[in-house]
Amino acid sequence: MKRMLTGLQPTGVITLGNYIGAIKQMVKYQDEYESFIFVADLHAITVPKQNFNLKENTKSLIALYLACGIDPKKNTIFVQSQNEYHANLSWVLECNAYFGELSRMHQFKEKSKGKENFTAGLFTYPVLMASDILLYDADIVPVGIDQKQHVEIARDIAIRFNNKYGKTFIVPEPLISDTGTKIADLVDPTKKMSKSSENQNGVIRLLDDLELIRKKIMKATTDSDSIIKYDEEKKPGISNLINIYSSLTGKTIKQIEDEFKSSNYGTFKKVVADVVVNEIEKIQKKYYEYLNSGIIDEILKEGINKARIYAKSKYDAVKNKIGFYN
Ligand code: TYM
Repeated sequence: MKRMLTGLQPTGVITLGNYIGAIKQMVKYQDEYESFIFVADLHAITVPKQNFNLKENTKSLIALYLACGIDPKKNTIFVQSQNEYHANLSWVLECNAYFGELSRMHQFKEKSKGKENFTAGLFTYPVLMASDILLYDADIVPVGIDQKQHVEIARDIAIRFNNKYGKTFIVPEPLISDTGTKIADLVDPTKKMSKSSENQNGVIRLLDDLELIRKKIMKATTDSDSIIKYDEEKKPGISNLINIYSSLTGKTIKQIEDEFKSSNYGTFKKVVADVVVNEIEKIQKKYYEYLNSGIIDEILKEGINKARIYAKSKYDAVKNKIGFYN
């Protein structure tokens, strides 16, 4: 059975973008693949954060995974920092990654721009991500478009290592959905919807008040004509709402354009808001049940035990290939 893996950072309540770009794909394919999903808490400390409770956020993210439909019987669910092999392999991979290629990563350029004191961890972030992926022989990695470049560098590192030491790693593929690749900010639809966005009106978080979510969608920036047509360049706002609606209903863009060809933006926004609120309402109900159930620690214990077995065996193979004394 092929393997699928993804991780999310516990840096704040996850957004509708995270849900559509990564989690929903995991849920969709969890029957077809042997699946791993983890909390990327080592990645979460690459950028300093204030008023931030890593432990609570980690637990909350696990409860959200479960509430979104990640089934603990079908997925190995774990916390990255509990598995020392991620950081161990990351060092080995750093010695097989180049300064030049890491300097070209969009995320690094964006997050370090204008700053003097960004961390070395921000720079090597993609190598740790490669380690996460390669440790488990993941064939596919569901991510949003912003992480595609990081999966590509994981591929390059895997190929380079295999060429140097003999076949060791599976070369992974990113899995990017047709319409959920980049959910945009509702206020500035030329930017991606991001956990760290300053303007809260542009971001839908899975634990937001439901009426607030409705309001944010009704107020979403659109253009001045009133035709519901997909055109990312000229109509980024309405195209974003079409993407959201398509991702949550499974309808194609063409079906949506036909369905709403004689509607105005207000009517369309209301329908989108209903679908989003309905989906998030179900998630929230389950979220609080899971959070208070005591089941999370059990799931994580089982998850980390399984994850460590896979990771140890891969890391031992790497050590042998390199010739570390054992
Ligand atoms: P994070 O937490 O920043 O993002 C988690 C996932 O959500 C996707 N995403 C989006 N998708 C669509 N529209 C958006 N507006 C949007 N915003 C975020 C991201 O692409 C990502 O898939 N580096 C990863 C965490 C990670 C990881 C890994 C992922 C660490 N190791 C190994 C896969 C495999 C990240 O960006 O997390």
